[in-house]
Amino acid sequence: MKALIPAAGTGTRLRPHTHNKPKALLPVAGKPILGHIIDDLLQAGVDEVVLIIGYCGEAVRAWAAGAYPGLPVTCVEQSERLGLGHAVWTARDAIGDAPFFCILGDTIVKTDYRRLLADPHNCIAVREVADPRRFGVVEMRDGAVLRFVEKPEVPPSNLAIVGAYLLRDAPRLWAAMDRIVAEDRRTRGEYQLTDGLQAMLADGCRFSVQPVGEWFDCGKRETWLETNRALLDADPAAAAAAPGVAPPCLVAPDARVSRSRLGPHVVVGAGAVIEDCDLTDTIVGDGAEVRRCRLTGSLIGERAVVAGVDGSLNVGDDSEVAADRRIP
Ligand code: UTP
Repeated sequence: MKALIPAAGTGTRLRPHTHNKPKALLPVAGKPILGHIIDDLLQAGVDEVVLIIGYCGEAVRAWAAGAYPGLPVTCVEQSERLGLGHAVWTARDAIGDAPFFCILGDTIVKTDYRRLLADPHNCIAVREVADPRRFGVVEMRDGAVLRFVEKPEVPPSNLAIVGAYLLRDAPRLWAAMDRIVAEDRRTRGEYQLTDGLQAMLADGCRFSVQPVGEWFDCGKRETWLETNRALLDADPAAAAAAPGVAPPCLVAPDARVSRSRLGPHVVVGAGAVIEDCDLTDTIVGDGAEVRRCRLTGSLIGERAVVAGVDGSLNVGDDSEVAADRRIP
């Protein structure tokens, strides 16, 4: 089955890290977000990937070719960021009329993918949330979806759409999105996938739902770090204790760490240098240099140089933040 992964967005909420790279390639628990998504899909039997690219799209294309040389990957460019519905619709020729699976390029879901992909109907991955007002929400009746609503003021249920969809009736989705785009029907300024799904329902398509075990959104700084913590907790490769390292942590083999305490929940990228530091809950990018710092809840970009900071930092690639202090 083909998987469609929309990854064209500009990722404004993750600036400065998305000033020079796409959100889907930001590192979490030792590999890009997109790497986690594709690896899970390959395990589930997906054998072809279509990526919607746009913002920093060439970086996504080059990364996919290098990371998955044997996998058929087609990149389709979304010329303008007109919403998720538009992104998916852009891929209609690359996907064709066969059933396909769609998952957002900033969403990692831990679920029984094989069961989800085996559903005989169109199937939407959902999760119960306390406050569904900022999500797409499904209303159910007798085990089938009655209605989809995007960010409802008064939610008809607490089942949030997590961003993973099995679409068996692809031609009906294309027909629905053709109409939405032709009539310029936008919700909050964008062509919404939820509106396309709602139109499919009105056309008589049947949708079921599958609750997912875990759902990690990487769209904001806090959720990016939260996802990093959860994936490290579940990663046997991160569990090894070592002198000065409180697991779970992932330290690249060629990183140079001296006179420092790391962890829990620290990732140190390739070629990074850490000296005289105490780091917890922090991602240090490839080639970064961190000296005399006590950091928690921090994101340090690639090749950034940081020194003498006690607290929480959010520093983009190639930036420098240096204080002449000795910490800890
Ligand atoms: P978001 O709504 O999170 O948008 O998109 P974004 O641009 O990535 O991030 P912010 O809101 O500016 O911080 C959810 C997913 O849908 C894709 C994004 O790449 C992301 O994987 N998307 C969204 C597209 O591919 N095209 C679009 O027009 C919109």
